[in-house]
Amino acid sequence: MTEKQTVLVTGGSGFIGTNFVRLLVQSGEYRVVNLDALTYAANSLSLADLEGSPNYVFVKGNITDRELVSSLFAKYQPVGVFHLAAESHVDRSITNAEDFVQTNVIGTFTMLEAARVYWNNLPEDQKNTFRFLHVSTDEVFGSLGADGYFTEETAYAPNSPYSASKASSDHFVRAFHHTYGLPTVITNCSNNYGPYQFPEKLIPLMIMNALSGKLLPVYGDGSNVRDWLYVGDHCNAIKLAFEKGPPGEVYVVGGNNEQKNLNLVHQICSILDEVAPPDEIQQLRETGLKSYKDLIRFVTDRPGHDQRYAIDSAKIRRELGWQAEVGFEAGIRRTVDWYLSNPDWVDQVSSGAYGEWIKKNYAWRADAQQEAK
Ligand code: NAD
Ligand code: DAU
Repeated sequence: MTEKQTVLVTGGSGFIGTNFVRLLVQSGEYRVVNLDALTYAANSLSLADLEGSPNYVFVKGNITDRELVSSLFAKYQPVGVFHLAAESHVDRSITNAEDFVQTNVIGTFTMLEAARVYWNNLPEDQKNTFRFLHVSTDEVFGSLGADGYFTEETAYAPNSPYSASKASSDHFVRAFHHTYGLPTVITNCSNNYGPYQFPEKLIPLMIMNALSGKLLPVYGDGSNVRDWLYVGDHCNAIKLAFEKGPPGEVYVVGGNNEQKNLNLVHQICSILDEVAPPDEIQQLRETGLKSYKDLIRFVTDRPGHDQRYAIDSAKIRRELGWQAEVGFEAGIRRTVDWYLSNPDWVDQVSSGAYGEWIKKNYAWRADAQQEAK
């Protein structure tokens, strides 16, 4: 049996991280050290089944803690880093940008500094194969008009505090490659969906609100477009970029699946009407609700709301042989089914600190936060 390679994953307890850590551990190729601060966006249930596995080590800690990060490099001697930890929600960045600067900018810088010192002291052959894979977003490119696609050549034009902090982190990663030679690879991905996504994001929010009879808040007129990619396909792309991407490369990754928000919400409601009709849900039976579509409400728009994102993934397909495997029709059904089949996970994320935060901070869509009566 070949010896497993150890990798350091940050943010492995979040949405994409949970799916990604599972992929790595199940591949049998890697031992994963997951460094995660367990913020509101993480859920301890998500990876509970991996606890005790010889190929999974969990470390609770902050990526801004230089001493801790350096000690993990020294202790575990990883062959590379998958850097996913971030504050990830645009709406929260509008209310509190500082956390985004701390984690996304200072945290990424701290990871890079610790990685650089560790990498500098590796033997030459290991220096060549080491990778720092930085997981970033298409939001760094700003907003598209009706036509065109983001590519690796698109100029940066971040519009929200979230995307500005991610753009800054991308620039530091690029600079550490060009200045110090650190073997970095950056991926900029479009909107992910699938199991374990926190319900502050559009798709799980709509599924969970609908099932508990709450209104479905669509920002503005619902015409904004996102390019949705199934999370498992994104995870495959990250793994490939780490294993095959030459140092200094950048890959944009998308689902080739543009959807207007309103259209997407309608599709979710149609699936729910079919698989969990309101008259079969105990708490909805007496409301007389016929279709989940009746819960849709247009609410005040997100400030600075980007109109359209869309990705041309030709480079990663051509150079690394990646392609999305899960079509939207199958992926969205699989996602709805996952939320219906995992009530414990859903209960855990709906209660506590996150619920309180929503009540206090979502002033611009307060009208949609009331229970549907
Ligand atoms: P998420 O918010 O679900 O998870 C983030 C994880 O990072 C959580 O487990 C959290 O506890 C951890 N974390 C946050 N701050 C930390 C800190 N200071 N120290 C250690 N851990 C910390 O995010 P996600 O949606 O899984 O996104 C993961 C990465 O992918 C992010 O870098 C994000 O910018 C990027 N990305 C996300 C999407 C998407 O659609 N979700 C698309 C493209 C890129
Ligand atoms: O494009 C990649 C990015 O996708 C990632 O970098 C981010 O981490 C991730 O959160 C996501 O950003 P968005 O802002 O696009 O995702 P969100 O799910 O918050 O919103 C998707 C769209 O739906 C957006 O146009 C805003 C709209 N929306 C969102 C919510 C939460 C609504 O209309 N109503 C809502 O309640």
